[in-house]
Amino acid sequence: MACSARHDPVMVSEVMDALGIVSGMVVVDLTVGLGGHAREMFNHLGGNGILVGFDQDHEAIKIAKSKFTDEENKQIQWVHANFRDTECVQNIVKNKRIDACLMDLGVSSFQLDVPRRGFSFQGTGVLDMRMNSENCVTAKDILDGFSEHDLADVFYLYGQERKSRAIARSIARKRRAKKDITAQDLAQSASYAYRKMTRRRIHPATKIFQALRILVNDELNALADALPLWCSSLKPGGRMCVISYHSLEDGLVKNVFRTLTKEKRLRLVCKKPLVPSEEEVFKNPRSRSAKLRIVESCTHD
Ligand SMILES: C[S@@+](CC[C@H](N)C(=O)[O-])C[C@H]1O[C@@H](n2cnc3c(N)ncnc32)[C@H](O)[C@@H]1O
Repeated sequence: MACSARHDPVMVSEVMDALGIVSGMVVVDLTVGLGGHAREMFNHLGGNGILVGFDQDHEAIKIAKSKFTDEENKQIQWVHANFRDTECVQNIVKNKRIDACLMDLGVSSFQLDVPRRGFSFQGTGVLDMRMNSENCVTAKDILDGFSEHDLADVFYLYGQERKSRAIARSIARKRRAKKDITAQDLAQSASYAYRKMTRRRIHPATKIFQALRILVNDELNALADALPLWCSSLKPGGRMCVISYHSLEDGLVKNVFRTLTKEKRLRLVCKKPLVPSEEEVFKNPRSRSAKLRIVESCTHD
């Protein structure tokens, strides 16, 4: 399947320096997306070793796979699953221990840019936002079914949205007047809540879209389940990189790594997270909120 979908991978040289991938290693990209990082990881294996590419989005897996030749694909194991799926992790890992592992969280440009996936406030499609289209609940279901009060809580908890109540009130009003709430309705409700503030760095709807997406995909619980699981699958000296894009994700990663470090199961490679260079942010503005945390396994068992 030839595909022109594009996603500029973030902090590639920092990730590759941190993972130190060489020939013969077993490496896992847990969020393969459009395969940008996976391609680099694969190239560093130099034709010898194993790459496992995970994504819960089967379209992403298809596109990523199409970016490798048939010969290269023989060395790659593609897995359509959520990275929190314990049974799947055990099947993959079996008795191999992992040398290098990457999580590049959030959504890909492909998911954001394809209107029918319903991730973007510029979109015209149904508000879907499922990364895995086999899951049941969409953002539309939440917008249709949640009370005004519960919607406000979602915007506050998962979007850290200060105007959560005003935005939820405006959505509830629109809902009474028309059947389907669209991306434009959400964007208008958020813009209205911020109408008196003229200077804002991000679109007023960014946080409520983030909140809905987190809830639809149960993103924070998946991350909390998966981090200890994958950290304990690393070889002694094996490394894990996590790139997060907002403070709820980064806070969670920081806390899990801190706990595992106290238990002497991990070592922090850098105390503070790395951030993209000004040059990268200029070239790829979507990288601007990225934070990269790197750990090394010290478990000998
Ligand atoms: C930012 S993109 C990754 C981009 C990729 N590094 C690249 O270079 O193209 C994040 C990807 O992670 C996937 N993803 C997010 N949460 C996941 C989870 N819990 N399990 C599996 N995949 C997940 C999304 O479907 C999306 O394709």
